Amino acid sequence: MNPAIKSAAEYAQRCGMKPYVVEWGLRGLIEGWIHEVTPDRLSGILHRGGTVLGSSRSKRFFDISFREKAYENLQQRGITKLVVIGGDGSFSALNQFYSDFGVPFAGIPATIDNDIAGTDYCLGVDTALNMIRQSVDSIRDTASSFSRAFVIETMGRHCGYLAMTSALATGAEVCLVPEIPYDLDSIAERMRDAKAHGRNYLLGIVAEGVGMGDSLTRWMGDALGMDARLTVLGHVQRGGSPTVYDRIMAFKFAVAAIDALQAGEKNQVITFADGTFGSDSINNIADTKHRVDPDLIKLCEGLSR
Ligand code: F6P
Repeated sequence: MNPAIKSAAEYAQRCGMKPYVVEWGLRGLIEGWIHEVTPDRLSGILHRGGTVLGSSRSKRFFDISFREKAYENLQQRGITKLVVIGGDGSFSALNQFYSDFGVPFAGIPATIDNDIAGTDYCLGVDTALNMIRQSVDSIRDTASSFSRAFVIETMGRHCGYLAMTSALATGAEVCLVPEIPYDLDSIAERMRDAKAHGRNYLLGIVAEGVGMGDSLTRWMGDALGMDARLTVLGHVQRGGSPTVYDRIMAFKFAVAAIDALQAGEKNQVITFADGTFGSDSINNIADTKHRVDPDLIKLCEGLSR
């Protein structure tokens, strides 16, 4: 998020705009925690994880009286357009704000779940994947040294993108995700065969959306007779210095967001699909069910049976 904040503000300045930042998200809009961008606000933030502005999920924003307050805060400062970095929830909130007061916004998709319809990429995903990759590589050292089976649970809410991509990238033997039906009997057969051919440890990656971390670990112990352990990676996946890919994508998303606003777009989410940046209305995005790339699913099918 920090490279996107920096880039959006700097590019807006270059386009002759006067950018402000809002601290603590929707709560900051209501409270008026809004500051004109000065160079010190943007220096030394590019390499930092999280967001230097802070984030919040404000329930008060659902109440029109608080949205009126937010609108007054913008009006007082002459702010006429918004860039919002976040997910479906933030975009819907800003869309309601647009319906109420006509303040246009451009949304930059940012969630490690990579589950926003219309875009192949959301900011933060590559950084999360590298965190997972590094963790699984480390766990492999214990797994191989102690002949153990490890189940590693990744985040992603209802989406298996993080689990599938990291299973492929780390060479896991098993991957369970909501998108692919699994077959434990056939996994057992495959693992027994692998053991018979000299395999002494196993790595399984399971998406949190399947809710199988504990039971898969127990099953590995019981069905395969292995010493099995579960590692729930949790919030380490949401932190850390953004990767080069995430930084560059942040710059591109931010420029596309400012360009969309300058072109008169009103309530658009910036998308990156088939290698090209574009935009789509929040209504289309909210009404469309997100689907993981079928080629990725195909590559992982063999790990679920
Ligand atoms: O949506 C991003 C995400 O990290 C999910 O992958 C995860 O299920 C959830 O947020 C965790 O939320 P919290 O930080 O509120 O526990």
